[in-house]
Amino acid sequence: MLIEKKAYLGLDIGTTAIKIIATDSDSNLICNATEKLKIYHPHPGWSEQDPIDWWNATKKVLLKVKKNLDAKNYQIVSMGFSGQMHSLVMLDKNNNPIHNSILWNDVRTKNECREIRKTLGKKIYDITGNPVLEGFTAPKIMWMKKNLPEKYKFIKKVMLPKDYIRFRLTGKIMTDPSDATGTLLYDIKQNCWSEFICKKLGIDKKILPKVNASHKFSGKLTSKIVADLNLDKNIFIVTGGADNACSLLSMNNINNSAVISLGTSGTIMIPTERLIIDRVTGIHLMKHVLPKQNYRMGVILSAGSSLAWWKKMIPKKTINEIINFSKKSDNVKEQIIFLPYLSGERTPHQNPDARGVFFGINANSSSSELTHAVLQGIGYAIKNSLDILSKEHKISSAIIIGGGAKSNKWSQIICDILNIELIRYEINDGAALGASYLGKIGFNKDFNLDNHLQRRNEKFKVFKPKLNNHKFYKNVYKNYNNLYKILTKQFKK
Ligand code: XUL
Repeated sequence: MLIEKKAYLGLDIGTTAIKIIATDSDSNLICNATEKLKIYHPHPGWSEQDPIDWWNATKKVLLKVKKNLDAKNYQIVSMGFSGQMHSLVMLDKNNNPIHNSILWNDVRTKNECREIRKTLGKKIYDITGNPVLEGFTAPKIMWMKKNLPEKYKFIKKVMLPKDYIRFRLTGKIMTDPSDATGTLLYDIKQNCWSEFICKKLGIDKKILPKVNASHKFSGKLTSKIVADLNLDKNIFIVTGGADNACSLLSMNNINNSAVISLGTSGTIMIPTERLIIDRVTGIHLMKHVLPKQNYRMGVILSAGSSLAWWKKMIPKKTINEIINFSKKSDNVKEQIIFLPYLSGERTPHQNPDARGVFFGINANSSSSELTHAVLQGIGYAIKNSLDILSKEHKISSAIIIGGGAKSNKWSQIICDILNIELIRYEINDGAALGASYLGKIGFNKDFNLDNHLQRRNEKFKVFKPKLNNHKFYKNVYKNYNNLYKILTKQFKK
């Protein structure tokens, strides 16, 4: 008789794609599959997706993964979720989305943010641990109330993207602390929704979902899903968490180095038990997906998306070719500078009006130099956050993950800019991997995460900073920072 082996799924609701990975009991990768997603920009600075698109794509990927696992004789025992943070999903009383989801990189909420700052002042930091930023969920809810009242009145529940997908599978509505902290409505010290903030902002607390720990059971698959997708009714479904927290979980707890994620956005994260509230620099403070843990995070809104935008100008080449053909000018003064602020910037500028800039082009400038400028610009944006975090934490190395980290050349450029060692593990499926661990932690009470990470992380590549390159980039970095300073007023016009 064939013995079925156990598979643990991690479903990531990303911005560019739905990704599902399956890992085995020893945390080896069994298989993965993705399905691309559409993103809508109805106005400059606006960014939306249709939750139904997420669901249709999820079903497709689930069927693909299930087929693969059946063929290899694996049985799915648990499912965990990760998803883009902050993006607002609104359901009516029949649980249908009443509008597209307004995404984390949508900056239409300038007025609402101003109003929150005026109403709550410094209190918002003390309660939520975070600055008021356009991408967070609360200002989006307020925008809906003011600008689309005819839709707003139908909102029964709001939630985050991964919560919507889990709801479609289980029929149960809830969120977890790591995503709740990204809404600006959650009391990070008391670990609950803030009644005070909801009242002050005119948001009915009843529309907020119940909060359940990320690794805890969250409900069974509905019988319709069991039948439609041919899944086992006993699959253990956990709540899941924010994509960045799941990425951190998937890589960290080994040596406490920082984690840099180079996805559509770019983030640099550091775990902390202490609640370190920063009222100045735009560093975020979030609940982790592990109980009693938090993490600090600098966020670059357009990392991979800057490169994806630039690739559209060079349509016949793949991203890898573009990166490999890139080259910098030998002279600091002739170096082209790219500010990657296509949708404004969160850390450190907290400026929704900032925009992308190429500076210093001359008659000989080539597309390969412009590409190099884009790669560098994203590195400098990460350095801005690293510089802030380094004041409080000793950071001598970072683990690098995400689509951008697949490129050796780009990883080395970032390593030389940051001047710290970068480590890239062979299995580095980021958020989806963390989501599959959450399922494993919930399903198997004896699961020892540290042992798993140690065993799994045997294969890796280390990037070491090259001193000469670092000296060069250090000078360009000064110009990069000056350029933003000079343009600040211009961006406001
Ligand atoms: C973090 C953030 C992004 C999204 C990307 O605050 O907004 O990194 O989580 O999915």
